[in-house]
Amino acid sequence: MKIGVLVSGSGTNLQSIIDFCESDRIVEVAVVISNRADAYALKRAESKGIPTRIVSHRDFPDRAEFDRELIRILNEFGVELVALAGFMRILTGEFLKAFPGRVMNIHPALLPSFPGLEVRQAAIDYGVRFSGCTVHFVDEGVDTGPIIIQAVVPVFPDDTEEELKHRILKQEHRIYPHAIKLFAQCMLRIEGRKVFIKDNNKDESQWMTNPSL
Ligand code: GRF
Repeated sequence: MKIGVLVSGSGTNLQSIIDFCESDRIVEVAVVISNRADAYALKRAESKGIPTRIVSHRDFPDRAEFDRELIRILNEFGVELVALAGFMRILTGEFLKAFPGRVMNIHPALLPSFPGLEVRQAAIDYGVRFSGCTVHFVDEGVDTGPIIIQAVVPVFPDDTEEELKHRILKQEHRIYPHAIKLFAQCMLRIEGRKVFIKDNNKDESQWMTNPSL
């Protein structure tokens, strides 16, 4: 299955996806698109010979035109699943219609708590005991789509943002490739807000809180 990865920054999640693709050859990163020319993620892709494109949102009059260019490139590369990995733009409904049920995101908190930006510091400041990360399908809201997998980490009272970030990123790099693999194996079924994961040992999809990662 061909995936397109949209990035804006350092691309550690992209790296975990690339590493997964190398070890488990059911998924191929067909193209990496960044809206920022200086994103280190581009270098990670280039070093593996993966095609990259820079599409700056500043070059387009509005979000619709920007998204149309993204759709054009993703279709050109035959992309079947779009994975957002630190992509700092909100996608239009038109984009989501072009890839219905085929856009995933990773968020560094346990949704629906702490959607949006600067969420790790917000979790520390709030005094929560646990945070984590969420892989979800993307809908038209901000971090509101159906949840596929979550992972939990402890939050300590003296945590710095950097410490919590590293603790969460470790889990992100584990669950994002796993969610992509489940999708590639047609093991995910969306029903309203819920995502059911097919159990290989049974005919039916199961409601699994902890798919064997
Ligand atoms: C991650 O924390 C991810 O959860 C969020 O953006 C960050 C991207 O980090 N969506 P990286 O570029 O993958 O290192």
